[in-house]
Amino acid sequence: MRSTLSEVKLINLPKIEDPRGNLSIIEEKIHIPFKIERTYWIYDVPGGQMRGGHAFKEQQELIVALSGSFDVMVDDGKEKKTFSLNRSYYGLYISKGLWREMNNFSTNSLAMVLSSTKFDEKDYIREYDIYLKYLKK
Ligand code: TYD
Repeated sequence: MRSTLSEVKLINLPKIEDPRGNLSIIEEKIHIPFKIERTYWIYDVPGGQMRGGHAFKEQQELIVALSGSFDVMVDDGKEKKTFSLNRSYYGLYISKGLWREMNNFSTNSLAMVLSSTKFDEKDYIREYDIYLKYLKK
């Protein structure tokens, strides 16, 4: 079934405030609706660069700005929405089948991605026109 932007959610993760420093938590199937199969992170992004111009057929993910800030534009082929991530206690949940682009990375930003799948290049759709054709199937 086709995914839509309504399935994309900014999740307010638990934040345990403490004078010694704050702490946040993500537990699979509790704060996010999938089992975590893989974690990767994006860092040292030069100014003006874009990451993640693609869609996944199966991968669901949660993106967290552990440090700094960046924008995530999500597109379901009909509508686009941009989320600004700038707090380490927010996670952007993206369901499968959606196009996403990440840009406006601040200096020293650190983007952590929790994925529901192992890496599989075959799960990627890397051309936008092919993505639009895929949605029509
Ligand atoms: P890609 O997912 O295209 O990066 P982004 O979405 O951030 O722009 O991945 C960049 C390269 O890294 C690509 O050649 C595939 C490789 N890669 C892996 O080998 N394993 C992984 O888990 C990921 C996420 C990427």
